[in-house]
Amino acid sequence: MNTTSSLVDVAKAARAAAHAPYSNFPVGAAIECTDGTVFTGCNVENLSFGLTMCAERVAVGAAVAAGHRDFLCVAVVAETNVPISPCGACRQVLAEFHPSLPIISSTLDGKTEEFDLDQLLTRASTGILNRP
Ligand code: THU
Repeated sequence: MNTTSSLVDVAKAARAAAHAPYSNFPVGAAIECTDGTVFTGCNVENLSFGLTMCAERVAVGAAVAAGHRDFLCVAVVAETNVPISPCGACRQVLAEFHPSLPIISSTLDGKTEEFDLDQLLTRASTGILNRP
């Protein structure tokens, strides 16, 4: 997987599995590892709304559970007017593994925006657990 469009295509396909009966806002994600492996995620909503898992975090969880932690890039796709950016919780979870991870966000009709995670989340871990 070495082109932006193919990772976006994988994320777009992953969106089809979303469980989003409350928002009707399915999201797909695809995270590419340094060895070329790709893991996908979709949002998984819950009747207890706060338990909802975003597509990006589901993708990270799938990768880590399979023993992959070295990431190159993540793509996310939703049906919006402008490309979405990951929520704050997902930014922090992504930063655990790659604080400047490249993110490609695409609308369903192909408007794409690219940014690096450290533009969206600064100082993700400064001081945490750094006890005197
Ligand atoms: N959602 C994602 O999966 N990823 C994002 O980047 C933004 C939001 C989901 C969570 C919820 O199921 C729905 O989209 C509406 O917020």
